[in-house]
Amino acid sequence: MSTLRGKRVLLGVAGGIAAYKIPFLVRQLRKAEAEVRVILSQSAKDFITPLVLATLSEKPVEMDLVIKNSGKLSWNNHVSIAEWADVILIAPATSNTIGKYVNGICDNLLLATLLSSKTKVFWAPAMDLDMFKNQANQSNLNLLKKWGHTVLPSPFGDLASGLVGHGRMAEPDKMCFAIRSYLLKDEFWYGKKVILTSGPTRESIDPVRFLSNGSSGKTGVALLTALAERGAIVTWVHGPSHYHLSDMENVLYKPILTALEMRDAVMKAWSDSDIFIGAAAVSDYRPKYSSKQKIKKSNAGLDSIKYELNPDILSEVGDKKMKGQYSLGFALETDNGEEEALRKLNSKKADAIVLNYANKKGVGINSEMNAVTLVSKDGNETLSLQSKEVMAVNLLNWIKKHSKI
Ligand code: CTP
Repeated sequence: MSTLRGKRVLLGVAGGIAAYKIPFLVRQLRKAEAEVRVILSQSAKDFITPLVLATLSEKPVEMDLVIKNSGKLSWNNHVSIAEWADVILIAPATSNTIGKYVNGICDNLLLATLLSSKTKVFWAPAMDLDMFKNQANQSNLNLLKKWGHTVLPSPFGDLASGLVGHGRMAEPDKMCFAIRSYLLKDEFWYGKKVILTSGPTRESIDPVRFLSNGSSGKTGVALLTALAERGAIVTWVHGPSHYHLSDMENVLYKPILTALEMRDAVMKAWSDSDIFIGAAAVSDYRPKYSSKQKIKKSNAGLDSIKYELNPDILSEVGDKKMKGQYSLGFALETDNGEEEALRKLNSKKADAIVLNYANKKGVGINSEMNAVTLVSKDGNETLSLQSKEVMAVNLLNWIKKHSKI
C-alpha cells in the first residue's frame, strides 16, 4: 500500500450512530502513515468517546471553540486547524451539520473550521431513508457538489431505524480509498487507459475438472489498487481469485475463466488503450475437447486428453502495438531467469518483463512478498524483497519513469 506519510487528514465527526465506525477509518489512515486530527461535534460525543479517537489518531481530539483549562479560557484557533489539513472528511455527515454548513451557520468548532477552510472537503452522509431522501437534504447535497465538494455515495442496506434503503454512511474502506485517491492522484497515471490481466485461467476438462495453476491474483489486485488510486482508467481482465477490489468507478470489470476469453477481452480493448500490464498466469495449453459428461475413472478417459496451445496474449498485444502504447509482462521462472526474461521481452515485443522466481522460498506465487528483476532495453534493475502492495507501487513508478509515453 502506498504510504500517506506527510499527508494530513482532518476528520469531522458529527452526531450520528455511524460514528461508531470512525475508529476503523482512523486506524486505516494511521496504518498508511497519514497524520490524522479529529474534530467532534458536541452531539458526536454521545456516539463515540473522544478518548478512543485520541488514542487511535495519537493526537488530542478537538471539540470546543473555547478551551477551558484550570479556570482559564482560551480561543481554539479553528483557522489554523483548517490550514493544517490537506483534505477534510466529514463522516458521518448529518442532516444538521450539512444544513448548517450550506447556510453558513457557525455554532461549533467543526462548522467554524469548515467555513474557514479552502481545502478539499469530502462528505459521507449518514441518515435514515426518508431523511436522506428529503428535498432539503438532497438539495443541500447537490449544492455541496456544485461548490466542488465530493459527496460520497450512501450505499443501500440496513439502517439503524430497521428500514432498508439508501442513507448509510460509506464504509471505512470506501472513505479511505476516496481520501487516498485524492492524495495520491498522479499526473502521469491520471486518465491513462490501462489493461491489466491477473489471476489464473481455467481450461475446462469436463464439467467438474479444469486445468489451472496456483496464481493467487494478489499482485494483480495490488496493481489494480495502485492504478485506481492514481486515477488510471483500468480494464481489469481477471481470472478466478479470492482477491478482489469491487465497485470502483474507474475500473471496467471483465471476469473471465479461459485464456481464449482473456484474449478476446484484452484485444477488444487494446487499440483504445495506452498500457498493457500482463500479470495473469495464463494457461499455455487447453484440452482440445472439453467433455460434456464427467469423465469416469473406469473409462481411463483422463489418459487420452489431447491438448492444444492457447494464444499468447502478451505476444498478440506486442504484434498490434502502435506508437505511444506500452506493454509489460511477467515471467515466472525456475532456471536461467534473466535469459528467459530477455527472450520473452524480445519474442513478445514487450517493453519490459518483470522476472520472478517460482522456486525461491517466501516470494512470488501464493506468498505475501516478492523480489523481482525488471528486464528491459534499458538494462536490468532489481527490486528487493518487499510486500506485493509496495512492489505494485514501485512497478508503477518504474513504468512512469521508463515508458516515455
Ligand atoms: N502470457 C500471455 N499469454 C499466454 C502465456 C503467457 O499473455 N498464453 C503472458 C503472461 O501473462 C506473462 C508473460 O506472458 O506476462 C510470460 O508468461 P510465462 O508463463 O512466464 O511465459 P510463457 O510464454 O508461457 O513461457 P514458458 O512457458 O516457456 O516459460
